[in-house]
Amino acid sequence: MNTPRDDGITAQRVRAHYDRVSKWSSLLCGEHIHQGYWEGIGSIKEAQERLIARLASFAQIFPGAAVLDVGCGLGGSAFWLAEHLGCSVLGITNSCKQAGLAMKSCRARRLEDNVRFAVLDANILNVATASFDVVWTLECAEHLSAREHFIQNCLGLLKRDGRFAFGGWAIPEQDLRLSQQALLDQLCSAMLCHEPDRLSDYVCWLKSSKLTNIVAQDWTENVRQTAAEWARTLENRLVRLFLRFSDPRGSPKGVVRLSKLTEPAPCGMSPV
Ligand SMILES: C[S@@+](CC[C@H](N)C(=O)[O-])C[C@H]1O[C@@H](n2cnc3c(N)ncnc32)[C@H](O)[C@@H]1O
Repeated sequence: MNTPRDDGITAQRVRAHYDRVSKWSSLLCGEHIHQGYWEGIGSIKEAQERLIARLASFAQIFPGAAVLDVGCGLGGSAFWLAEHLGCSVLGITNSCKQAGLAMKSCRARRLEDNVRFAVLDANILNVATASFDVVWTLECAEHLSAREHFIQNCLGLLKRDGRFAFGGWAIPEQDLRLSQQALLDQLCSAMLCHEPDRLSDYVCWLKSSKLTNIVAQDWTENVRQTAAEWARTLENRLVRLFLRFSDPRGSPKGVVRLSKLTEPAPCGMSPV
């Protein structure tokens, strides 16, 4: 098991951050808080929904599956899985505000029979074991310090023949250059993330579990355009104003310059 890192990023800080920014981020950026999968031109929302569709097909999620979405954000994945595949989804988040907003969208979409949200800590995952066909987690593990432990907990919630669909940030296999490490440190601190692991670490952890068919892909090139889109959003005056008031760390000076990430990126996106 990897040991939790002590980098000052606590679960309480992460929760307070999402409580503080979720309302505004839902208004400004919509219900997806994750990378997009780009194929030619299109909106960021289209790219984000394409990424969900690809991850769902990658994990061979079948219609009607019972899904646990860990770190569900504003419910973007849960709604997509319910609307496109008829899945029943329990989304969990550590943020009360986020769960409330997600539930509101759920009612507006008339999905209350299929989709529920609860406030629960992904570090503990106090949910009935062996009760889901799919555990889905998209860009949540970045906030968790003991990822191997987290993954073993997720797998324990799967029924026999269940599927684990994971999308997250990974660092390259080779050592980072000093400038890349500095940028990564800045990014992690601004986004309240612990340093990502390597794709090979994830594969290794999964291989030591009960899972039998493990497939991992590096989608770095496909998601790269998202950082440029976010940088464009950050240039909007309304958004800058929002950042200034919503989060003291989020003043334009304090935010990592996302435009830098359009240079060769130090981390990528890897579904496992
Ligand atoms: C970058 S957002 C991704 C949200 C969503 N998966 C999506 O793709 O839109 C990270 C999510 O992880 C959640 N999260 C972070 N730490 C958590 C924890 N300890 N327990 C539960 N949720 C957590 C946050 O509240 C947030 O919803």
